[in-house]
Amino acid sequence: MKTYNVGIIGATGMVGQRFILLLANHPWFNVKVLAASPRSAGKPYKEAVGAKWVMTSPIPTNIENIVVMDATADMEEIAKSVDFVFCAVDMKKDEIKALEEAYAKFECPVVSNNSAHRFTADVPMVVPEINPEHIEVIKYQRERLGTKRGFIAVKSNCSIQSYVPALHPLKKYGIKNVLACTYQAISGAGKTFETWPEMVDNLIPFIGGEEEKSEKEPLKVWGEVKNGVIETASSPAITTQCLRVPVSDGHTAAVFVSFENKPSKEDILTAWKEFAGVPQELELPSAPKQFLNYFEEDNRPQAKLDRNLEGGMAVSIGRLREDTQYDYKFVCLSHNTLRGAAGGAVLLAELLAAKGYFD
Ligand SMILES: NC(=O)c1ccc[n+]([C@@H]2O[C@H](COP(=O)([O-])OP(=O)(O)OC[C@H]3O[C@@H](n4cnc5c(N)ncnc54)[C@H](OP(=O)(O)O)[C@@H]3O)[C@@H](O)[C@H]2O)c1
Repeated sequence: MKTYNVGIIGATGMVGQRFILLLANHPWFNVKVLAASPRSAGKPYKEAVGAKWVMTSPIPTNIENIVVMDATADMEEIAKSVDFVFCAVDMKKDEIKALEEAYAKFECPVVSNNSAHRFTADVPMVVPEINPEHIEVIKYQRERLGTKRGFIAVKSNCSIQSYVPALHPLKKYGIKNVLACTYQAISGAGKTFETWPEMVDNLIPFIGGEEEKSEKEPLKVWGEVKNGVIETASSPAITTQCLRVPVSDGHTAAVFVSFENKPSKEDILTAWKEFAGVPQELELPSAPKQFLNYFEEDNRPQAKLDRNLEGGMAVSIGRLREDTQYDYKFVCLSHNTLRGAAGGAVLLAELLAAKGYFD
């Protein structure tokens, strides 16, 4: 496999830091450019990120002295010097839309963590094990943008990365209704207990915009490429409540589900165990070997014990049992800044690279 030069836009942020660590020894991707806001631009990375570095591992030595560029003012230069960029920035939605589209129009593909383009109809929103075929819509997006190489591909919100993978292999039983309550870590807000001390011994029953994303995004992921766009699925009916909990990393979901054709418990366990997607078939470097992992113990999965399973790229499931109102209920967990953010984006970029979209 050839190697690609990569830029990280938003390199000083929480997700940007994860990208730096995940790409430190990546076999295909070489970090060449780091960019952020004008506040960081012109400074060596170590100085720009300063006390905002919150990873448990130190900054890789080959990254420390890279001078951070201005994501907007230096865009043309950045676009010319890399094969594609990862983007995870904290800006207004319309500014992010414009920024990502401008990079694409400079013929620089964008693999994004941001929500701005998730509902642009010709932008694929991909969980690589679930809907890898959606990247085929990129050819129509390129026609709209008037580009040869440039395009935008996005990953979905971190909240859905725990329960949608667990539901996906059960679609063959006709999923009718889903109720999911999510218990989301503070790193999902780009925070730690040091920067958000109010979260110690606390729970906040509201995360702005999260319930809408959690209910709508699965229907795009389960949609189909038709007439040059992704047509969203019309079912199942999904309702959610999303709570912020005092956990550093790892989003948990309590899920209730009803089916057209109710499977047995054994059918569900087998579907989870046997499920593998394109990333596993292609042996992409960041793909977990076993994507869905069922724990028999009643007190699993636990955020602290299980979030780092397979490098934080696997989904952990437990407590499958029949319910009195729905057919079944279970609990699932995924690492929100790994599988749910930077890791999910790296896996998507690996899929795009393997399919020739960066050539
Ligand atoms: N944290 C998660 O678990 C998670 C999961 C999925 C998706 N996301 C999404 O990923 C994005 C980043 O999240 P985060 O948690 O990493 O945020 P964050 O820690 O607040 O970092 C924000 C980044 O954006 C940069 N930035 C801010 N204003 C900018 C501007 N005008 N031009 C260029 N760069 C600018 C910042 O640079 P400076 O340091 O120079 O200000 C910083 O690098 C958000 O869209 C978020 O919704 C986050």
